[in-house]
Amino acid sequence: MEHAFGPLGADGVVHLRAGGTSLVVDTAGAGLPRVLHWGSDLGELSDSALVALRLSSIPQVVSSTVDRVVPLSLLPEQSRGWLGTPGVQGHRDGHDFSPAFVVDTPALDSLDGTVAHRLTVSGADADAGLGLTVELELTVSGLVRTRATLTNTSETTGYTLDAVLLALPVPTRAQEILDFTGRHLRERSPQRHAFTLGTHLREGRRGRTGADATLLLIAGAPGFSFETGEVWALHVAWSGNHRTLAERTPGGDGFLGGGELLLPGEGTLAPGAAYATPWVYGSWGRGLDEMAARFHGYLRSRAQHPVSPRPVVLNTWEAVYFHQDLGALTALADRAAEVGVERFVLDDGWFRHRRDDHAGLGDWYVDEVVWPDGLGPLVEHVRSAGMQFGLWVEPEMINVDSDLARKHPDWILATGNRLPPEARFQQVLDLANPAAYDHILERLDSLVREYAIDYLKWDHNRDLVEAGSTSHGRPGVHDQTLAVYRLIDELKARHPDLEIESCSSGGARADLGILERTDRIWASDCIDALERQQIQRWTGLLLPPELVGAHVGSPVSHSTGRAHTLTFRAGTALFGHLGVEWDLRRASPSDLAELAGWIALYKATRGLLHTGRVVHVDHPDPALLVHGVVAEDGSAGIYALVAIATSAWYPPGHVRLVGLDPDASYRLAPLEPATAVPSLGGHTPPPWWAVGVVLTGRVLAEVGVQAPNLLPDSLVLLAANRL
Ligand code: DGJ
Repeated sequence: MEHAFGPLGADGVVHLRAGGTSLVVDTAGAGLPRVLHWGSDLGELSDSALVALRLSSIPQVVSSTVDRVVPLSLLPEQSRGWLGTPGVQGHRDGHDFSPAFVVDTPALDSLDGTVAHRLTVSGADADAGLGLTVELELTVSGLVRTRATLTNTSETTGYTLDAVLLALPVPTRAQEILDFTGRHLRERSPQRHAFTLGTHLREGRRGRTGADATLLLIAGAPGFSFETGEVWALHVAWSGNHRTLAERTPGGDGFLGGGELLLPGEGTLAPGAAYATPWVYGSWGRGLDEMAARFHGYLRSRAQHPVSPRPVVLNTWEAVYFHQDLGALTALADRAAEVGVERFVLDDGWFRHRRDDHAGLGDWYVDEVVWPDGLGPLVEHVRSAGMQFGLWVEPEMINVDSDLARKHPDWILATGNRLPPEARFQQVLDLANPAAYDHILERLDSLVREYAIDYLKWDHNRDLVEAGSTSHGRPGVHDQTLAVYRLIDELKARHPDLEIESCSSGGARADLGILERTDRIWASDCIDALERQQIQRWTGLLLPPELVGAHVGSPVSHSTGRAHTLTFRAGTALFGHLGVEWDLRRASPSDLAELAGWIALYKATRGLLHTGRVVHVDHPDPALLVHGVVAEDGSAGIYALVAIATSAWYPPGHVRLVGLDPDASYRLAPLEPATAVPSLGGHTPPPWWAVGVVLTGRVLAEVGVQAPNLLPDSLVLLAANRL
C-alpha cells in the first residue's frame, strides 16, 4: 500500500506496489497515462529513480515515422501518432474519428480491502465532443485492472462508437503466446505460438462468453511453464461479445488488450450518453502458477466470495436426464444423503411441457403432470434428509413451443422479420425488454420464495445469432448482457443467501463479469475424468478450485464412453467444488461405500483445498501430471500423481513436489482412499510408499521422491504434513 512520494509521484511518474507487483505509470502532461512497467516488484524507488526510469524508457525517433516519440497509452491514440489498434474507434457521421484526449490531473487513492490503489484520470476532446474517464487499479493480490467510460458530450448529435479497447504493455522478452479455444465438452484447449509482429486477435461473437473464449491471453518468455518463465496474462470480464488481442509493432511496442466487441449500432451514443467498458484484468507471474495465484487471491478477497464450506452436490442431470418423477428422485436423494451429499440439485425437466429439449423453456411453472403436488414433496424429502435444495433454470431462453412464446412471440431476439436459426431447438428471450424482464424476475423470485431454494443452476444453452432487440431492432447483445447482470443482481438482492452457478452448455460462460454475481462456474458438461484433468488444469489459471464445479460421473462416461475407476473419477473431482452426477440407485453397495469415503475425504480437506495455493509441477514426462494445493501457511499440502497415458519411463522416476516451506520438515505419505497403486503386474510400489518418508520442503521440491508405476487413467494422492 506504499508509495513514497507525493500523490502524483515524481514529476507525474507514479509507482504503485502491491502483492509482488509494481505498476509504474507516467501521468505527466495532458495525455492519457502510459504504463512504463507492469510486472515484478521493483522495490522502493526514489523520485529521481522514477524520473530516470521514464527517461531511460524513451526510444529514439527513427526514419519514416512521425517525428516524435509515440506513446503507448492505456487507450492508444492515432492523434499521437499511434498506428496500431486504437483505443477508441468511432465517429460522428464520419467526423470526430480520431480523438485527442486532454486529461486533468489524475486522482490517486490508496484503499483498504480488495483494491490497494486506484488511479483515476478524466479528460475530454472538446473538438470531438467526447469525455473520457479511465480507472486503473492494483489489487492487494497484485492484479492490475482497468476500465474506461466514454461520454458523448455533444448536446446535439449522436456518436457512433465502434470499440473501446484497453491496452497493457508487455516487455520484449514476452515472445510466446498461450491462449485457449474450446468447444462443447472440451473447453479450454491450449494453443501456443510465437508472439510475432502484428496482431493476434481473439474475437467472441457468440453473444455469450463462449466455449472457445480464450479465458486468458498469456504472453511470456519462450518456454514458460507452470513453475518458470515470466508471463503476463489478460482477461476481459464480460459475458457477451468480446475482443482480446496481443499486438506487437515494428516500433518495439508489445501489448495485451481487450474490451467488448460492439455489434453495429450497439455503441450509438445519444447526446449526453455514456458507454462503460467491462473491467480488463491483467496478471503477471514467474510461471503460470504465480500468475494464477494473483487471480485466486483477488477472487478470494472479494466480499461476496463464498466462504462457507462448499457443499457436496448431487446433480440429477446424468442420473435421470428428463425422466423425472417423485419416486425416482426421492430414492436418488436417499442414496445421496447416505453417502454424504449436502446439496441436491434438480436439473432440467421439472417445468411445464419440458419432457425433452424441444419445448417448455420460458414456462417456469412446475409441471402439473410430472409433479401433481408441486415440488414441495421432493423439497421436503431433500430437506428432511439434511440437504439443501437447488433448481436448474435457463432464464434467458425460450422454446417456440412454449406458452410464453405463443403469448409473446415478440419477446424473442430477432431481426429482418424472421427468427434466427434454432439451436438446441430454442431461441433467446429479450431480457432488455422490460416486460420480458419483469416476467422472468417474477417467476424466478416466486420459485425461490415458494421453495426456499438455496441454489440455482443458471444455464444458457445457445449462441446468440441475429440477436436483434425487440424494442429498437438494432443488435441486442450488449443490452442483453447487462440485463442478465441486472436480473441476477436483483434476485440476489431479494434473496441474499441464494447461491447461483454459472453454466452454459457446460463451461461456455466462465468469466469474471458473471462471477461478480455468481458463486460457481460449471467447467464442462464432460465429466470424463481424463478430459477433466485438462479442463480443470486450464480453467484453474483463472479460477480457484472452490469456484469450479467438478462432479464424479458414472463408471462409463456419458460423453466419451470411457470407463474409469471411482478412484480416478473422484480423485479428479476432489480438486474442485465436488459433486456427484451419477444414478446412485444403480451403484453397488461397495461403490457407495467407496464414494462415501471420497466424500469424507473432500469434507476433511476442503478447508485446505479451497484456501490454499494451487501448484503444478513441471514434470518432464507428458504421461504424468503432478499437481496439488498447499496451505497458505505451509503447514500441509495435498498432491495428485495422475497417469494420463502409458509412459515411456518404466519405472517413472522421481517426481518433485513443490510449494512447501523449504526449511520445514514434512511427513509425506499416500492419502486414503487413493493409496492403492493400481497395477496389473503384481509390482510393489517404491519402498518409501508403505512407510511414508520425512523430508524437507526443499528436498521435496528439488529432489522429489520415486513415483510408483501407474496404469494409464489412474491416480494416487499424497499428503505432506509439516512436523
Ligand atoms: C447443459 C448443462 O451444461 C447440463 O449440465 C444440463 O444442465 C443440461 N444443459 C440440461 O439441459
